[in-house]
Amino acid sequence: MSGVKIPALLIGLVLYSIAIASDDAPQQVRQDLMKDVRQAAKPVGNMLREKEAFNAETMMSSLMVFAKVADQYGAQFPEGSESGFETEAAPAIWEDREGFDMALMEFAEATKIAIESGPQTLEDARTTVSPIFKTCKGCHDNYRIED
Ligand code: HEC
Repeated sequence: MSGVKIPALLIGLVLYSIAIASDDAPQQVRQDLMKDVRQAAKPVGNMLREKEAFNAETMMSSLMVFAKVADQYGAQFPEGSESGFETEAAPAIWEDREGFDMALMEFAEATKIAIESGPQTLEDARTTVSPIFKTCKGCHDNYRIED
């Protein structure tokens, strides 16, 4: 039986590496990253608004998604990716790269503080997780065009 399973696994791995190697347009990658953020932010927002019971594990896995995105996001804005794919990225990103990098750093820092604090209760999260959402808005206000 294992003789059947191993080739299947190998094919899976090959397909997986092709998916990684095929370089998606940065506009696409950054939109997908923000979709991950939205997905992860949903339970966090529900917990903070007491629409969902607090769950430390769910909270932490959402924070880890924020951290992953914060880490990969800055690389998705090369010259030439200012338009296309219905991007909502504002021209300010390329005109004021320092300010954009700063806004990204604030998001990364707020996320790091929250992760290190390891929130165990809703009260903990109100103190250490809520500030992250100010950094979403802080960046969107200047660097995202919302319709
Ligand atoms: C450093 C800047 C920055 C930070 C911080 C940031 N965003 Fe964004 N976000 C953007 C930009 C720029 C876009 C538009 C990207 C594009 O369309 O190419 C965007 C797009 C989005 C989208 C639309 C995704 C889509 O295409 O469907 C959502 C949802 C979103 N952000 C949620 C959040 C949330 C929630 C947070 C905080 C937890 C956050 N963002 C933090 C810059 C940021």
